[in-house]
Amino acid sequence: MKRISWKSPSNIALVKYWGKHGVQLPSNPSISFSLDHCYTETSIRLEEGGTGIQSFHFEGEAKPSFIPKLQTFLDRVSPMLPWLSGFGIAIQSKNTFPHSSGIASSASGMSALALCLADAHAAMNGGEIDMQLASELARLGSGSACRSVYGGYTAWGETPHIPGSSDRYAVPVLDVHPEFRDLQDTILLIDSGEKQVSSTVGHGLMDGHPYASARFEQAKDHIKRLKGILETGDFMDLADLIEREALTLHAMMMSSNPHFMLFKAGSVAVIRSVMEWRAKGEPISFTLDAGANVHLIYPATYAQKAMDIIQAEFLGFCQDGAYICDSVGKGPAKIS
Ligand code: PMV
Repeated sequence: MKRISWKSPSNIALVKYWGKHGVQLPSNPSISFSLDHCYTETSIRLEEGGTGIQSFHFEGEAKPSFIPKLQTFLDRVSPMLPWLSGFGIAIQSKNTFPHSSGIASSASGMSALALCLADAHAAMNGGEIDMQLASELARLGSGSACRSVYGGYTAWGETPHIPGSSDRYAVPVLDVHPEFRDLQDTILLIDSGEKQVSSTVGHGLMDGHPYASARFEQAKDHIKRLKGILETGDFMDLADLIEREALTLHAMMMSSNPHFMLFKAGSVAVIRSVMEWRAKGEPISFTLDAGANVHLIYPATYAQKAMDIIQAEFLGFCQDGAYICDSVGKGPAKIS
């Protein structure tokens, strides 16, 4: 069979997923938006008569150390793709963002691979690619990856506030105010070092965490609030909510057993400064992933002023002055 290639974006969660059960099922619902510039391009070649992952190349170089993780993913998805047993898979992948940036590539990487497999599934059975299947496959690789198969805003996890939502796959959130459809995300690359704790370990530390159930209830309530805010387009309400979410995520890490802290001094300095700017009425806010980098979130209409603030105040906190200007993206695309 010929080569199949897809590009798929990274995403940034506004209400965070942290804590899971069963096979990659979330302990609370989450909402993110897909990024426009940070994505992974992946090609697969199916080799008839082979079995399992035959090779993995990242940015042109063979990376056999990735194969066990990819094979685990393949073993998980194979019951949903019965034809897979008759094929081996050779994978090639590359990112548009530097892998030393500290930006997690699991969401874009796993969603791009899942899209290739869902597309192959459509080719085997005839018909169009099923995005719900692609999302479910992506989830089995990395939870947050299931939200990357759509553009714009996406929800994952069952919630009464989003019809059709599920723990098994993500769904698009379509009712979004025009003000938020081109929201900006400037990622300040504060620290590019290896993560101190993998997200798998971090999720696991929510088991038995003394504040876990309160956190899961808070996230459910935040989904309801965020859904309303996305409809009305009030940026200051959004800022208040996403900052609380980001700080709660890190508070969960700082209060787990063992505890850990992913902020760097630069992250804290930027966060404080953003809070001060907003207290003066400026429409700029932040969110964080499980790392030290700070995502500055602001409306497109505020981009010039935000860039002035970034240049004047934040570049000194970025490693080698590096940052990535991104925004809400249109989602994955097939590469012909
Ligand atoms: O998909 P994972 O297992 O890498 O978990 C990602 C968790 C956060 O990025 C911290 C939050 C989220 O919802 O994306």
